[in-house]
Amino acid sequence: MSVSSSPTPSPAAATSTPAAGFAATAALRAGAAPTQAELFDFVRRAAADAGLIASLPLDPEGRTWVRLDGPGGSEAWLIGWPPGTGTGWHDHAESVGAFITASGELKENSLAVRLPTDGWKTLELTEGVDRSRRLPAGQGRAFGRHHVHEVLNESQDRHAISVHAYYPPLPQIRRYSRSGPLLRLEQVERPEDWQ
Ligand SMILES: [Fe+2]
Repeated sequence: MSVSSSPTPSPAAATSTPAAGFAATAALRAGAAPTQAELFDFVRRAAADAGLIASLPLDPEGRTWVRLDGPGGSEAWLIGWPPGTGTGWHDHAESVGAFITASGELKENSLAVRLPTDGWKTLELTEGVDRSRRLPAGQGRAFGRHHVHEVLNESQDRHAISVHAYYPPLPQIRRYSRSGPLLRLEQVERPEDWQ
């Protein structure tokens, strides 16, 4: 996940091997898809695992990530964010998810509106749909299907580390550019683009 890239990693630094030493231990209901609350519980516990957080290699030049073994077959990532990096606007299609800051501070800008699924290239957003929240260490959120956001480390000098989980595993990510109220669909990424 470089600056223009994802909530999910781009191929260069990604590893698809789940990190050793940390596995989902949430007591999931047998056979049921993990809920947003269960994904949030997973990221919260992972973020509190000091050994896991310390195991992420950090690179001052770009984001780093390690795949985790998320609960119930979910897709999970530990991500490092150098100062000034971000994802750009994107969504997670039909997946629900959760993420939390483990160290440093992240900012999330999001849209409180459901976008049409397909058939458009440019949309003009109405006033009042923008939301913004600061997520210092220990703070995070869960989100539902079609959540549109960007995540940033606005710090000038401090790395941030976060934990993310998605279910179902991301089938695709749609990437957008934003110019004032205009949102433009730029690209659709599929799992082979980041795994
Ligand atoms: Fe995201």
